[in-house]
Amino acid sequence: MPYRRCGRSGLQLPAISLGLWQNFGEKDTLGNCRTLLRTAFDAGVTHFDLANNYGPPPGAAEETFGQLYQSDFRPYRDELIISSKAGYGMWPGPYGDGGSRKYLMASLHQSLRRTGLEYFDIFYHHRPDSDTPLEESMTALADMVRQGKALYVGLSSYSPDETRRACELLRELGTPCLIHQPKYSLLVRDPEHGLLDVLAEEGVGCIAFSSLAQGVLTDKYLQGVPPDSRAARQLGNGAIEESQLNPANIEKARQLNELAQQRGQTLAQLALAWVLRDPRMTSVIIGASKPSQITDAVQCLDKPAFTADELARIEQILGGAGA
Ligand SMILES: NC(=O)c1ccc[n+]([C@@H]2O[C@H](COP(=O)([O-])OP(=O)(O)OC[C@H]3O[C@@H](n4cnc5c(N)ncnc54)[C@H](OP(=O)(O)O)[C@@H]3O)[C@@H](O)[C@H]2O)c1
Repeated sequence: MPYRRCGRSGLQLPAISLGLWQNFGEKDTLGNCRTLLRTAFDAGVTHFDLANNYGPPPGAAEETFGQLYQSDFRPYRDELIISSKAGYGMWPGPYGDGGSRKYLMASLHQSLRRTGLEYFDIFYHHRPDSDTPLEESMTALADMVRQGKALYVGLSSYSPDETRRACELLRELGTPCLIHQPKYSLLVRDPEHGLLDVLAEEGVGCIAFSSLAQGVLTDKYLQGVPPDSRAARQLGNGAIEESQLNPANIEKARQLNELAQQRGQTLAQLALAWVLRDPRMTSVIIGASKPSQITDAVQCLDKPAFTADELARIEQILGGAGA
């Protein structure tokens, strides 16, 4: 596993990280969750990504992780980077959503209780909140670090302008922003339109999510919808549903799959290697329902380079959807 420096910080992250958004909830067996985490860690995936609302239901993924941390991972705490987040609706009333100091601090304490951790390595504001002064949210993040409850802080889904302002504030507060977590894949190219430039200038790392487009950028939907797939499972909480599978994207996946085969890769490996081809990317967070998906993903690192012809062919398949 290659480890890549996170912006201009001292921290290195594995090129492939594992996220617990889906597949670690109440419907999932503890045995499978244990095998997923062990498979990842044994492959050098030292970073597990959580949030207060991961499950389903919200909170369940942190509880599952907490159980497995106690039984399996506690001796390896210093070999792990564990992140969590707050920003989306988590509990009823005015204090369980957004970016107020009240919400962020209360949610951090809940996440520490659910996981049984003494601290998170990275704590994120999960999304911008235009109703809260940015100073308030960033001061809350910086105070988490001062209190020893987080080692680093990050931002997710902030626009380039919001990111720049947040980075300035965090720097003034003495807690530089470590990392930004945007959605980035062959099908969602937004970070190329300003965000990656801002992150490079600010010295902030970048870790992509949904780079397999929740499974669309794998070979799994090319012959229909398998019954055990995320699209068929009706998980809610933002998980892709069968009705959201877009035939145009499936056709792109079919053509990309042919290119992947010519490169001697799976489509999942091509999709992940493509995200990691940009040196401004620190890591990509995959989701997985089966251990074999983690093994598949990690092997993207065997063929990381693309020729100019391959990159041009990818743009042709995507129909100029990108930069
Ligand atoms: N910051 C944010 O707002 C935000 C939002 C979303 C996600 N995230 C983070 O990013 C992580 C990953 O997100 P994601 O789950 O959307 O990522 P993803 O990697 O795009 O999709 C993961 C899903 O794709 C399928 N898959 C993965 N590898 C496969 C393979 N080799 N072959 C066939 N199918 C494969 C599996 O679904 P099946 O169940 O069908 O097998 C898996 O659960 C999350 O866990 C979370 O940590 C952050």
